[in-house]
Amino acid sequence: MKRYLLLSWVLLSPAHADEINQTALAADAQAAAQALGGALKAELEAALQAGGPVEALGVCQIKAPAIAERISAEKALKVSRTSLKPRNPQNAPNAWQTKVLRDFEARKAAGEDPAKLVYSEVADQEFRYMKAIPTAPVCLTCHGEQLAPAVSAKLAELYPQDRATGYREGDLRGAFVVVKDLSR
Ligand code: HEC
Repeated sequence: MKRYLLLSWVLLSPAHADEINQTALAADAQAAAQALGGALKAELEAALQAGGPVEALGVCQIKAPAIAERISAEKALKVSRTSLKPRNPQNAPNAWQTKVLRDFEARKAAGEDPAKLVYSEVADQEFRYMKAIPTAPVCLTCHGEQLAPAVSAKLAELYPQDRATGYREGDLRGAFVVVKDLSR
C-alpha cells in the first residue's frame, strides 16, 4: 500500500500532473456524460410513451447498463451513474464517489444550483469527473414518494434492494461518473 502510494505520488507529482491536459479531459468527460444522459432520456421517453411506466422499468433495467457500456467503449473511458441511494446495487458509489456525492449535497444545501454541480480531479492515475443529476418531474413516476401500485410491484420484482424512491423534484437523484485511466 505504502509503495503504491509513493508510486502514484511520483507519477502524479505536480510537475507531471501539469502535463495532463485537464481542461481537455474535463471537456471529454462532460461530452460523455451528456451523451449518456441524452441517450437515456430518449430511451426513457420512448419507453414511457410506448408502454407506460411498468414497461419502461424493464427497458431501463436492460438498456441503461448497455448504453453506458456502448458510450464508454466509443469514448475510451468509463461512464456510469451512481447515487447515495441506488436502485441497482451495481450503481453503488465507491469511496471517492461517496465523498463527492456528499459534497454535492452540501453545496446544494449551501445554495448552489444542483444542475451545475460538477467535480473533477486527477488521483491514483485516473482522471475523475462527476456531474450531479437533479430530480425532474418525470423522474417521480419511478423515484418519487408515491408510486403507482403496479410500479412498486414491478420494482420489488426487478430490484429487491431498491433504495431509489422517496425523491422530490429538485432533489439530487445521483450523478454521472466518468473515469479515464491515465496509466496507459
Ligand atoms: C420508468 C421508470 C423510471 C423513470 C421514469 C426514471 N428512472 Fe431512473 N432508474 C430506473 C431504473 C429501472 C433504474 C435502474 C437501472 C439499472 O439497473 O442500472 C434507474 C436508475 C437511475 C439512476 C442510477 C442510480 C441508481 O439508482 O441505480 C439514476 C441516477 C436515475 N435513475 C436517475 C433518474 C432521473 C434523473 C430520472 C428523471 C429524468 C429518472 N431516473 C427516471 C427507472 C426510472
